[in-house]
Amino acid sequence: MATSARKVSLTGIKPTGEPHLGNLIGAIRPALELAERYDAMYFIADYHALTVLRDPELLRRYSRSVAATWIAAGLDPERITMYRQSDVPETFELTWVLSCVTGKGLMNRAHAYKAARDRNAETGKEDLDAGINMGLYNYPVLMAADILLMDSDVVPVGKDQSQHVEYAADIAGSFNHLFGGEHDKLKIPQPVVPAADTGRTLPGIDGRKMSKSYGNTIPLFVSESQLKKLVRRIPTDSTPVEDPKDPDSSSAFQILEQFATPDVTSDTRKRLEAGGMGWGDLKNLLFDVLNDQLGPLRARYDALMEPGSELDDVLAAGAEKARARARRVLRLVREATGIQ
Ligand code: TRP
Repeated sequence: MATSARKVSLTGIKPTGEPHLGNLIGAIRPALELAERYDAMYFIADYHALTVLRDPELLRRYSRSVAATWIAAGLDPERITMYRQSDVPETFELTWVLSCVTGKGLMNRAHAYKAARDRNAETGKEDLDAGINMGLYNYPVLMAADILLMDSDVVPVGKDQSQHVEYAADIAGSFNHLFGGEHDKLKIPQPVVPAADTGRTLPGIDGRKMSKSYGNTIPLFVSESQLKKLVRRIPTDSTPVEDPKDPDSSSAFQILEQFATPDVTSDTRKRLEAGGMGWGDLKNLLFDVLNDQLGPLRARYDALMEPGSELDDVLAAGAEKARARARRVLRLVREATGIQ
């Protein structure tokens, strides 16, 4: 892949929870499209997760789960590179070098850090840095290292992460300015925000945006009975079965739209608007559609999650490719700085 003329896209996924329907719509599907156009690299940002996760079993589980999910959802491991951040130790060498050319003020302005300080201010804490670890503070530098180390052209991220990609571009600019000589050493990356992230988001089972921080998700790989239970919990109003309904006001319909074929969606819209279709009917339909689509994925996911499965080979091959790429960039950086 490194020899092809196609541009490289790089995405990191933080393993901090079970993958859910919102991830599939917001991150995984757009990534599948990008994999058609770029040499796509995906990595499990396990060291980033350590800023919040304090449970080794969970970290191991989530890391594997993220990789298994993306492959089960359709990423072809033959065509893409998938690796664990922790399998590329060059990342941490570059992180240090980059922190030496990064203004502390830039980190003070980073969204996640500022939000954590704001929360402290709101709760009346005297020390606005209370409970904030250096991992959270340095997070954007580690992320810049992930990106710059792979000589990435584009970085597909959600809106919430685009500041981080801009930071990576800034930091690369500082490095090139200080150490570039005749030729830039670090490539300036471009953020790509998938269309799905600029428009509507998927509602969760309480009607708010589906997010693990709200605890309102439908995990991708639950049992059928669990899936049914979660779908039933989606809130609806008390319009009687026979009355006309507004499909767009319904969370269940908004989820259906993302998973059903256009025909099923428009037919359901008509039936709801005409009256005679109850919210219960809609939820039964939603369950069937989800279960049909997720069933085959679940089987593949379960197989990949088994210890010693094909997933280990995928990650080992990915680590090797990623390290080869990383070493090239790091060699340039070491030479440019005088470390070597
Ligand atoms: N910070 C990203 C997130 O929380 C994950 C991530 C880490 C990442 N390193 C990256 C994304 C590099 C893109 C490129 O979602």
